[in-house]
This record gives sequence, structure tokens and C-alpha cells, in this order.
Amino acid sequence: MKSPAASQEGDVPMEAAWPTAGDVLRVAPPRFGLEEAAAIAADIFGVRATATPLVSERDQNFRLAADDGRGWVLKISNSGEREGVVEMETGVVRHVAAVDPTLPVAAPRETRDGASWGTIAGLDGGHHFVRLLPLLPGRKGTAIDLSREAIRDFGATSARLGRATRGYFHPMAGRPILWDVKHLAELRPHLSFVADDGRRALVESILDRFEAAVAPALGGLRAQVIHNDLTFDNTLLDATDRVSGIVDFGDMAHTTLVLDLVAALVSLLGGRDDPPDVFAMAEAGINGYASVTPLEDEEATLLGDLVAARLAQTTLISAWRIGVYPGNAAYLSSWDAEAWPILALFEAVGLPEVRRRFAAAGRRIPAWTGAGAPAGGATAGHGGAGAAGAGDAALLGRRRRVLGSALSALTYERPLHLVRGEGARMYDPDGCPYLDCYNNVPVVGHSHPRVVAAIARQAATLNTNTRYLHETVVELAERLSATMPSGLDTVMFVNSGSEANDLAWRLATTVTGGRGGIVTEWAYHGITAAIADLSPEEWPHGERPPHVATIPPPDTYRLPGADGGDGPGGMTWAERAASRIEDAVADLADRGFRPAAVYVDGAFTSDGIFAPPAAYLRELVRRAHAAGALFVADEVQAGYGRMGDGLWSFEAARIVPDIVTLGKPMGNGHPVAAVITRSEIVDRFAAETEFFSTFGGNPVACAAAMAVLDVVEDEGLTANAAAVGAEIRAAIRALAPRHAAAGDVRGRGLMIGVELVRDRATREPDAGLAVRVQNAMRERGVLVGTTARAGNVLKIRPPLVIDREDAALLLRVLEEALVAAGA
Ligand SMILES: Cc1ncc(COP(=O)(O)O)c(C=O)c1O
Repeated sequence: MKSPAASQEGDVPMEAAWPTAGDVLRVAPPRFGLEEAAAIAADIFGVRATATPLVSERDQNFRLAADDGRGWVLKISNSGEREGVVEMETGVVRHVAAVDPTLPVAAPRETRDGASWGTIAGLDGGHHFVRLLPLLPGRKGTAIDLSREAIRDFGATSARLGRATRGYFHPMAGRPILWDVKHLAELRPHLSFVADDGRRALVESILDRFEAAVAPALGGLRAQVIHNDLTFDNTLLDATDRVSGIVDFGDMAHTTLVLDLVAALVSLLGGRDDPPDVFAMAEAGINGYASVTPLEDEEATLLGDLVAARLAQTTLISAWRIGVYPGNAAYLSSWDAEAWPILALFEAVGLPEVRRRFAAAGRRIPAWTGAGAPAGGATAGHGGAGAAGAGDAALLGRRRRVLGSALSALTYERPLHLVRGEGARMYDPDGCPYLDCYNNVPVVGHSHPRVVAAIARQAATLNTNTRYLHETVVELAERLSATMPSGLDTVMFVNSGSEANDLAWRLATTVTGGRGGIVTEWAYHGITAAIADLSPEEWPHGERPPHVATIPPPDTYRLPGADGGDGPGGMTWAERAASRIEDAVADLADRGFRPAAVYVDGAFTSDGIFAPPAAYLRELVRRAHAAGALFVADEVQAGYGRMGDGLWSFEAARIVPDIVTLGKPMGNGHPVAAVITRSEIVDRFAAETEFFSTFGGNPVACAAAMAVLDVVEDEGLTANAAAVGAEIRAAIRALAPRHAAAGDVRGRGLMIGVELVRDRATREPDAGLAVRVQNAMRERGVLVGTTARAGNVLKIRPPLVIDREDAALLLRVLEEALVAAGA
């Protein structure tokens, strides 16, 4: 914020009107010439340089181009400045530089005598303190030009600065500061200077509320030494809009910590006039701040009021100064040019709503930012090598050495280093966003605040096992079983999809006495010994275990007629496709096995993503039961609304599985999984053995799972999956005629497969093309996978929060990648 002692005004009788203001606000700035400045730099600091003037409100600043090519700022303090203040400002900068060397502050160069500042005689008989500060790189920013990401970063920088100053103290930090919002009430006498009745009433209402509800609470908030003015006036930005310079600690004070965020927010909102835009940007700034320093509840509650208070403070100081110095009105009114429109917008929206929105943003637990990118760092871009390149190579080497060769290879030719996620996007260390169209685990979006908060809350309260009474595990089980067809009344909690399928296998073999399993040809169900046997995708050398038989997936592309009509022998497509189970049962019988279970991933994800007609699953269940096997619906991939027509993928077929297994999306990334089945099945199992999982059903996992259910419901994500998924499929089908390789587009909801072929007539798979398209999309900032036995199907499986704009980006990039890959 600009000091009210503007250079144009000359000597200002501050004390009469503003009793707490310091001398610097009364005394005119120094008036040295350019040659004198150069001489001072040489005499006191030993720096030979050419000087050019820089603006300053109360001091006199010069930019120096030194003979050795370095840039400096010579700061000659106002003769009214107290030495203690200079000492405090010097001390805080040194302190910050020591605590967080990545914060771009300018520590003063020592004088030739080793002092932190020099003293020179003034032209007016007084004396001035002189400092020489390194010239920081960058340019002045304006809020309106900044992306949401840059605003988030600004908020994070403000918080980092606060963290760096919190261990610093100097007695001068307690001096009265005009711009400390804490003192707003003292400005009430200046209300009379606000000429416009409406504006005056608005500011008065903010003052009333401040005095009644805000000021009394401020004493209970965190307080420390803060910069108190980290705005666009006092920062420099680099080419990527990151803060590359922090200057002017002149308004630093020991005051309420959150006022640093308030100052930043007022600056960040400047020039915006659209309420959704204003709140989105405020939220980004708050989110960035809280990613470093989470707000306490009381701070979040008061945040909206404090922002309004700082705006009111700006307008009051400005109006008062204009009232006292009408000749300077044009200059003085520039101070509050940005404050009035925001205040007017707040009034239009309603101050209670403003408070609510700011408080909600302040309470949200944001994604960790990795404390922001280093100042001046290069931007990699999706396709560039960037500064992260060397670091990534080292990380890759360490990863190879320590994580072993068995760990699944990294996706993409150029491995992707990710540091945070939010909604449908993940970000690399340079802050570059990637639209995530691959991950089904963060079903409600990466780092969803409600899930994160639920986990954090419960982790801070209690985490233990299910051998004690606890509400959450019971409530979650009740909620889950209420979503299932009747009869599926018992829930057993484990920690992964593999464990859920493993437990299902133990239940099925116990109950049926069978030892054989039936799965689709390229299925994947998990990593335990029993389930690896049931996962042909992972069979070593493709060798199938003797007790497992496979059925072909319901390939709607290569087994034509799925859309209706009878086939040979009067069989429907569904009957024909499902009848292959009979071959599998006979195959097992030949090897001396009776089937215990048929496992089906409702999305046929590994097999290549298929959405067969409902009758197929009904037929499969009927035939499985006829063979004495249980039907296991593996919802690890397809569950939680992904298919768009219910929470569970089997619902559309109106079948009743014997066992349902859940995993991946269940905790949005927090490990939690479950088996849901009939009590009589569990009773038979319990008659032979006990079941206990140390982590299964722990309170934190259950809190996460409960929050996921809430969000899927509250945000209408199943319907979103249906609508956005259908639009994506239709749009890809529309672009397919331009790309001969796009053989088939299929799936349901937000589980989408695009099969790439060499030739539409022969339908020969083209796995090489799929990999090229996948990599070309990654280079353009959109992440997809590949699947199917031949590896030729693009797997598009985004978090369910993806919206139409995201879908448009996906489609544009897909088409670009198809062209780039030569499809
Ligand atoms: C259909 C299906 N079931 C089970 C699993 C195993 O889940 P997890 O990796 O959590 O053990 C997977 C994992 O990809 C899967 O796709």
C-alpha cells in the first residue's frame, strides 16, 4: 500500500490528523542528485556506478548500474526515519534469507566499514541512513493478467514469507502503523470525507461490524511480525508470473498474521468485476496461502470481514487525504481506484455471502504445493525439457536402484514427475497442469477437500483397528449395504482390491467346495498368489494355472450383432457370448476342478473395455450358478458411479452378484477396500476360520470412504459421468471418419475405450499407434492409458469431476495426437 506521505504533497501536518503516524510521514523525501548518489555509493559501499532515479513515497531511491555489470538500488532514507526501523528492516531481510533462502528478498550490502547501513548529512541539516540493496529481477505485475495458478502461487509466497518472519522480533515492530487493519476503528472520524452517501453508508457498515465483531476477536488470533504489505506494489514477477522479488518492508509490524493474506487478497482482486471470477481468484489465493499455512478456524471466519476492512481502510485514508488536500485529488484517488469496485461488488453480493465464501475457502484444506516453484525457475511446459529435467533424471536413477526391477514400468516415454493434484488435474514441479483422463482412483477429483478434511480430522482423532467399538465402520457398512441389491447385507473391510478379491476367493471356495476359477481372457484382479492365478494379464509366460479357465470378453467390436437380433441357432448375441462359460466349465472338469467362482470386472478394463448388452451379464450369472459357482462382481474399476448408470456397474443389468468387491476409488486414493456378500456365506466361512485385518476398516479409511460416498452423491457425479462420457464418445465417433485408425469407440459413462487398428476392414490391432498417441497426448498435457491384450485400445478413464471444458481439451488434444502419430 502506498504511504499517505506522497512525494507530491510536500510537508504534511500528519500529527494533527493522524496522531499515531511517525515522523517520516511529515518530512519531505531527500532530494539528492544523480551524481551525489553515485558518489555516496562509491564512498560508502565502494561501488562505482551510474545512477538513475527510482520512485519512492517517503525515501529517495536510485537504480545503480555498477561498472562490474551488477545492478543495485541505493536507498536514502527520509531524514525523519528512526534508526531502529532501519535496523529492523535490515534484520528481517537477513532473517528471511537465512530461514528460507528461496524467498527472493534483497539483503543489504555491507558498507566499506562492515556496517549494514551508512549515514550521510542531509541537505536540510538532518541526516539520512543509506542502504545498498541488490537489484532484484522481474517486472511489476497486475492481478488481472495472472492465471489462477499464478495467484495461488502468490498466496503461497505470502504464507512462506510469514513463516520465515515468525521467528523474528524487533521492538520497533510494535510502533503504530497506519496500514495495520487492527487500527481501522481509529479512522472513523474520516468517514465525513467520503462525499458519496451510498459509499459512506457502505464503509460505515463495515466499520460498525469491524468494531462490534471483528476487533474484539483479533486479539485471539495468531500474531507475529509480518510484512503487512505483500502486494503488487512491493513484488516483482518473473516471466512465468512467479514472485521473483520481495521489497519494501516499510510497513512491517507485529500484528495479526492473517493480515498478510488480507493484503495479498486485496491486491489480487484488483481490476476484477465479475463475482464468480472474484471468488474464484480469492479462493486460489487463499488456497495457495493455506497450502503453506493452513488457516485456523477463527481466521477463516474473519477473513471476509478483514478483506472488507482493508478495502474500507484504503478508501477512508484516501478520502481523508483528498479532503485535506483537494489539489492532489487526482493522485490520491488513484489509491482507491481498485478498492471501490470491489467494495461495490461485495455490497451487490451481500457482505454475509462474502464472509461465507471466504470462510469456506479458508477452511478448505488445499493440496500441498511443494512450497512453490523456485523463483526465476524455468518453465518446462508439457513438451519442454525445462529445469526439472536434470532433477528428474537423478530421481529416475535413484528410483531404479532402490525400488527394484519388478515394479511396473513408468508410463510414458518421457516419465512424468508429478507433485500435486486438484480436481481433474495433476501438476509437475514447474506447476504445469496435466488433465488426468487416466486415473479412476481419485474418483471425486484429486485431493478433494472434503475427503482430505475427513481423513485429516479422523487421523487427528483416532486411528485403530476393528477390535473396538467404533461408529464409522458400522455406519459405512450400513451405507454400503444399503446401496446393494437386497441380500447383500454383510461388509468385510480390507485394504486393496487384491485383498478384496482374495477374500472373495476364500469365501467362494469355502462355500462351494470348488477349487476352480473362471475369468475373462485378459482379466486382472490383483496381486496375491490366489488372485494372480485369476489374472491372465499377469500369468508368467502366459501359462495358465490348471485350476483356472478363461472365457472370451464380450467383444462387441469383433463379435458383431451385439446391438440386437438372433444369431445362429436362434441364440441372442448375449446368450452366444455367455455360453462360452460352458466351455470353461467343461475345460475345468477335464482337469478335475469344479468352479468355485466366476470373476467379472464390470468394465472389462484389461480386456479392452466393453459395454455388452445387459442380457450378457444376466446370462453369465445364470450359467455360473448352474455350474455351482458364485458370481463375483469386481467393482474395483467400474464402481462408484463410473459407468454413469448407478453406483455399481452391475446395476444396469439388474443382476444380483453373490459377492461384490470394491477398492480403488473407495477412498479416493486412501487405501480402503471391501467385500460385500450375504451373511450366510460369511457364516459358513466363519464356521471354519476367523477374519481380521489390522488396517481393514480402520476409522481413517472409513472416514475417507464415507466422504467419497457423500461427494459422489452431493456433486451428482454419476449423472456427470453419464452426460460427459456420452458426449466424449459421440465427439470421438464424430472425428473417427477423419482417422482411419479409429476402429471402435465404446464404453459406458466415463470408462471409454478407443480401439486403434491398422485397417478398419481387417481390424488388425495397432498397438504401436496407441502408444504413440498416448505419448503425444502426454506431451500436450492430457493423460490417457492403453489397454487390451493387444495393447491397442486407448483407455480414457478420468476422475468423474471432469467437465465439458475438460472434455473439449481432451478431444482437441486427442485429435492433434492422432494427427501427430500418423493415424
Ligand atoms: C478389476 C480390478 N480388480 C482388482 C484390482 C486390484 O486392486 P489393487 O491394485 O488395489 O490391489 C485391480 C487393479 O488394477 C483391478 O483393475
